[in-house]
Amino acid sequence: MSVKVEPLPKFDGVYRVTLEDGSHRIASKNLAPGKDVYGERLIKYADAEYRVWDPYRSKIAAAILKGLKMLPIRAGYKVLYLGAASGTTASHVSDIVGEEGHVFCIEFAPRPLKELVDNVCRYRPNMSPILADARLPEKYANMVEKVDMIYCDVAQPEQAQILADNAKIFLKKGGWIMLAIKARSIDVTKEPSEIYKREIAILEKNGFQIHQVIHLEPYDKDHAMILAQYLPDK
Ligand SMILES: C[S@@+](CC[C@H](N)C(=O)[O-])C[C@H]1O[C@@H](n2cnc3c(N)ncnc32)[C@H](O)[C@@H]1O
Repeated sequence: MSVKVEPLPKFDGVYRVTLEDGSHRIASKNLAPGKDVYGERLIKYADAEYRVWDPYRSKIAAAILKGLKMLPIRAGYKVLYLGAASGTTASHVSDIVGEEGHVFCIEFAPRPLKELVDNVCRYRPNMSPILADARLPEKYANMVEKVDMIYCDVAQPEQAQILADNAKIFLKKGGWIMLAIKARSIDVTKEPSEIYKREIAILEKNGFQIHQVIHLEPYDKDHAMILAQYLPDK
């Protein structure tokens, strides 16, 4: 059986790959052909190259496979990415927004940021690596434009508040957020469901309308992904 790639219904810029053994994966179209980012398989198909998107390494991929209703990342979108690390997921976001879009990558740890610069941003003109603390958005306000979407995966206490503070400055009204909640880094003594509820309450208080909460197991234990829209005046 030969490999086949087709658009994933309902998810612009995401593809469904059928491998030689008949199994399925998701993928994005490689904006930097010939370059992988984290050892993912590259697949050439009909004049394009695709990067297999690993749900065990990337929570957005896990959310898609766990039933995400819509992905608020599309061609041409500007995305603010909080907690970009070395670029595993940010590179797929870069693939999806394409040449007309942009990904502003905030990361406060110098080592992953260096990897992000050397291995990823160097080959992708639509990414801006920014060494900064996501808790202090005013410090990078002059480097980031108004964005259509914020993705937050900082694995820190106060994640929802960090996201809300960034949204106030950078997110267009009606824009979208996805928040990956790593429950255990917030308070190990509390049950995950209790933590999700608390984070959701913070988002709602700050003008977000929650659309979906997805638990990411088996890809990611004790994590959830929240999809919400920013409607601060409602
Ligand atoms: C779970 S990892 C992100 C993984 C990445 N989103 C991916 O899927 O490829 C969390 C990252 O957030 C960064 N981080 C944590 N707190 C931060 C903060 N306050 N400001 C900026 N980066 C932060 C960490 O250094 C780490 O690289």
